[in-house]
Amino acid sequence: MPDLVLGVSGSVACYRAADLARELMREGFSVRVCLTDSAARFVSPALFEALTGQPCLSDVFEEPERGRMAHIDWARSAAALVVAPATANTLSRLAHGLGDDMLTTIALAFEGPLVLAPAMNPAMYDHETTREALDRLTERGAWVVEPAEGEVACGEQGQGKLASIPEIVAAVLEATAHGSSLAGRHVLLTSGPTQEPIDDVRFLSNRSSGKMGAALARAALQMGARVTVVSGPVALGYPPQAEVVRVRTALEMLEAALSHVAQADLIVGVAAVADYRPAQRAPGKLRRQADTMALDLVANPDVIATLAGRAKPGALCVAFAAEPGEGLGPAYAKLKAKGVRAVAVNDVSQPGLGMEADENALTLVTESGEVASGRMSKSRLARWLLERLAGELG
Ligand code: PMT
Repeated sequence: MPDLVLGVSGSVACYRAADLARELMREGFSVRVCLTDSAARFVSPALFEALTGQPCLSDVFEEPERGRMAHIDWARSAAALVVAPATANTLSRLAHGLGDDMLTTIALAFEGPLVLAPAMNPAMYDHETTREALDRLTERGAWVVEPAEGEVACGEQGQGKLASIPEIVAAVLEATAHGSSLAGRHVLLTSGPTQEPIDDVRFLSNRSSGKMGAALARAALQMGARVTVVSGPVALGYPPQAEVVRVRTALEMLEAALSHVAQADLIVGVAAVADYRPAQRAPGKLRRQADTMALDLVANPDVIATLAGRAKPGALCVAFAAEPGEGLGPAYAKLKAKGVRAVAVNDVSQPGLGMEADENALTLVTESGEVASGRMSKSRLARWLLERLAGELG
């Protein structure tokens, strides 16, 4: 039976954690419960010990087995860490890497999927610091089961009620199933923009931030893959477990990606590669002269099409397409022109979606049809996409 750690923090919704523990056990998990001090004032460890047949921890110095460090043992053996209910305080402590009680100490030592089910007063849920903590945790790959709308314990209305038990269980099943669907696979991603030099100080580029590529790298690692990212210049960091090759131009991106393509099982072209580059790079700094000026451009190689032609047999090669809302015709054309098995289309004309944004929406186009994701965070979307692609890999 896979182990789960259920962390319970101090919200009135604590009492529902008992039902959650039971349901998770019905799904075949062995559940060990860890209470924060505040949770232990709402519910007793004895309740969870009786329900689960396992010790329930709260104090960081409590060691059910003498000479063993419980926070490490629990973190190593758990298939997922589920925090339900997760209070604003616990979310902020998790987001900032505090280890000031048993639950946060386990979380720091834990390397698997983290499922969070917040519950609190709606104003606390809306508070900037809570939103920042949730954003930070989502960025790191946590599954967040959004609280429901309605009347909360204090009598106020709004979003803050602990999500339903079936919703939390579904997220745990998704998070744990997810863990190995790309195990043993090598995922090669291109990400970010390219910069094509005009002279020594200027370049042609675009607004790609690398967020979508970083989200895919994180999700692929969570799914057990080895990940290589060939990235144009971006300000953000990629996960430390990924191999990251930094490049500047489309030509450099092609060369770096080609040196990894032979091993790759899944190749995804997320990068916004410049279609053209200046024919000449002027030395130094071009001086202002006439009122108008023409730049000669030459076409860059198509990186993803070249990778598709060099991929090993059975590898799955996927392009992204940034489309300004003109339907899916261009995406079907790209499917053929680039020789890829799928094109993930995002409509970059939608405010708040696509380049630079934290959210996106994709339509995955293959020869057999289309499937749309709906709008979601890039982290969730990355999982959505990789689950489908992992299914294609077989
Ligand atoms: O980085 P973010 O800010 O998070 O934004 C993400 C994104 C919007 C850049 C990303 O989701 C996306 O849509 N990436 C592809 C953007 C793009 O260049 O689309 P395209 O339609 O021009 O290119 C189609 C495909 O061909 C892409 O896979 C692209 O990587 C590839 N291509 C294009 C030209 C070229 N010379 N070589 C290529 O490999």
